[in-house]
Amino acid sequence: MAAKIIPVATFDCVVFGATGDLTLRKLLPALYWRFRDGQMPEDSRIIGAARSQLDDDGFRERAAAALKEHVDPASLEAAMVQRFLARLSYAQLDAVRADGGWEALSGRLDPARIRVFYLAVAPRLYGPICRNIGAHDLATPLSRVVLEKPIGHDLESARAINDEVGQVFTESQTFRIDHYLGKETVQNLLALRFANSIFERLWNSDVIDHVQITVAETVGLEGRGDYYGHAGALRDMVQNHLLQLLCLMAMEAPVSLEADRVRDEKLKVLRALRPMEPHEVAGLTVRGQYGPGAVDGKPVPGFLADLGEPSGTETFVALKAEVRSWRWANVPFYLRTGKRLPQKVSEIVVQFRALPFSVFPGAVSELAANRLVIRLQPEEGMRLEMMTKEPGPGGLRLTPTGLDISFEKTFGVRYPDAYERLLMDTVRGNATLFMRRDEVEAAWTWVEPILEAWESRSEPLRPYPAGSWGPTAAIALIERDGRTWHEEAARG
Ligand code: BG6
Repeated sequence: MAAKIIPVATFDCVVFGATGDLTLRKLLPALYWRFRDGQMPEDSRIIGAARSQLDDDGFRERAAAALKEHVDPASLEAAMVQRFLARLSYAQLDAVRADGGWEALSGRLDPARIRVFYLAVAPRLYGPICRNIGAHDLATPLSRVVLEKPIGHDLESARAINDEVGQVFTESQTFRIDHYLGKETVQNLLALRFANSIFERLWNSDVIDHVQITVAETVGLEGRGDYYGHAGALRDMVQNHLLQLLCLMAMEAPVSLEADRVRDEKLKVLRALRPMEPHEVAGLTVRGQYGPGAVDGKPVPGFLADLGEPSGTETFVALKAEVRSWRWANVPFYLRTGKRLPQKVSEIVVQFRALPFSVFPGAVSELAANRLVIRLQPEEGMRLEMMTKEPGPGGLRLTPTGLDISFEKTFGVRYPDAYERLLMDTVRGNATLFMRRDEVEAAWTWVEPILEAWESRSEPLRPYPAGSWGPTAAIALIERDGRTWHEEAARG
């Protein structure tokens, strides 16, 4: 099945942080794909901006090397790559300084075009860069600014950044990326819930026992010590990606897919999250840090050795959240995420309630309660686990089996990277899959008491060996409630 493309208008995209990891690993490959598929108009331009001393050709060389590393070779036709690279240029610029060389950039921009400023830099630079964009009159009515998560490191810093950015760009020009929302399978949650009549009727505390959201990674620090060493898993993953997934699972149906209607509903969920009292944090959260171990059969060092200094930063979080609403009363949401776990897997498990009574021989507990497993990555798909009769004469033996949908097999198309979709949505001015200011701030409001309690009450940072499913306390967190983590993931 061929992918359908919505054409976008010709644009100029300025990428600050043009020589950084995000640009080379994600943004340029994503733009290449959109160009190759004919969605990015041929005369659009990508202008890299950074402090490094480079000229246009030097930047193109780096871009070419990045494409080689991050795009599959079969899709890198030489002529196509050359055409794409011709769209690139470079402005040497110290963007936090008003006199940092802005003329090099402004001379390259066309005031009549859509203009995207992509800030692939540390969040503390968002304010100063936007101020300079404003001071040099570069923020035209057709401009948008794209901000990466996390916006700040707590509520106060997030507000300060949002205020500063807001001096130059209106809210509708501000695109706060959470790349999880650009993943195909995450958007599919909206389809699952609101394009099918069967699930929505079951989507409440009468039928659902609890929900689990797991985002497990095998990677460690990956040279991102400057950022991650201070951020940690709660700020890096839970405040944004995991809470956004929770919102999509828990929200009411929006009245339309218009950006603000979807974001209004997500915001209601964030506001309905029960704040944790300081004394509850130890019982409702687990923070861990990986030590040495083995992943994929290879020995790997622990976090402190990766970082090269002592640190109390967590690389694993598990927590129990509660959405205070009519629909979700008494349905806990268990969240966990960590680095150096045994498997890269993101999945959501909806555990339905057990049967009240069994008409079959044996105890009712022998009948596994139904479960919907939504696999976000890899091997994207869904499985509804149900009890069925084992075939054969004599007796009525039951066994759990799965109704399976593999998205890959069903559609047989390449799954575009999240950034492809999100970059084109930015050009189109479609903010449905981006976070609004009040959402980001509501997420920080919920997360902050956890951060504070961890700091002030010195909750233990629990070690776990790399290659394990996190500290044993994470297992205790859910088993205390008579439930277990869905470990299909662990078996691969
Ligand atoms: C990023 C985090 O937002 O998401 C990284 O900063 C993390 O620490 C990454 O590795 C995970 O994204 P994905 O798409 O690989 O699941």
